[in-house]
Amino acid sequence: MDIERLRREFPARRIDYYPSIDSTMRAAAGLEAGSVVLADEQTAGQGRHGRRWHSEAGSGIYCSIVLKPMPVLTLALGLATADAIARATGMVCDLRWPNDVMLAGKKVAGILVQVADGKAIAGIGINVNHASFPPELASEATSLRLHTGAPVSAIDILLALLPAVDRFVEMDKETILRLFTSSSSYAAGRRVTVAQADGIVEGTTAGLDPAGFLIVRKDDGTDTLIVAGGVRAAGS
Ligand code: BTN
Repeated sequence: MDIERLRREFPARRIDYYPSIDSTMRAAAGLEAGSVVLADEQTAGQGRHGRRWHSEAGSGIYCSIVLKPMPVLTLALGLATADAIARATGMVCDLRWPNDVMLAGKKVAGILVQVADGKAIAGIGINVNHASFPPELASEATSLRLHTGAPVSAIDILLALLPAVDRFVEMDKETILRLFTSSSSYAAGRRVTVAQADGIVEGTTAGLDPAGFLIVRKDDGTDTLIVAGGVRAAGS
């Protein structure tokens, strides 16, 4: 990856690059706001809910950006990631609340936000040029290359991603909620199942509440507010 080009385009930013690292989230902890950490490979990539993020060498964007904490940051970062992919490749992604960026029903990118010491670390993982996935991920994950059938430039996506993140994090909460709702086929009118601590909730999505949580209307007419992930299209 042409990190020097990225540094030339964004001379005011600290951009750290590691050929291999456990996780860019760890490397970004303690850096000043605006700093970016990138890796070619992660040996212990972190996903949400303690899961691993598949981070094979030379195939993905593994990026952590240090930001100021703000409401609905995860939703803003999903919008920024989809925006950058669209600008760089023309591919239009869907957003699955709260943190999944989807292409043709499969996950192509994920967002992980960790807040500590008054800063938010925005972790963005994008499956760019993966030619395949391990069997346990193959039915759920895709890459831009698998989707389009041709290699994709990771640097072009990064060149679009950093300004996109800057733009979306400047927006107010109401604007982010409106943009997310209009960009996501999952936000309203979608039949879903949601894994909750006390079982599976099934219903139809009915928009986001003012805090950015997902409303699921069950068939008995009652609403459940979903505050953490686990949303799947019903029947998938
Ligand atoms: C998810 O969908 O579960 C979130 C995945 C976030 C993965 C990215 S890759 C860059 C950064 N470093 C990590 O260890 N995780 C995030």
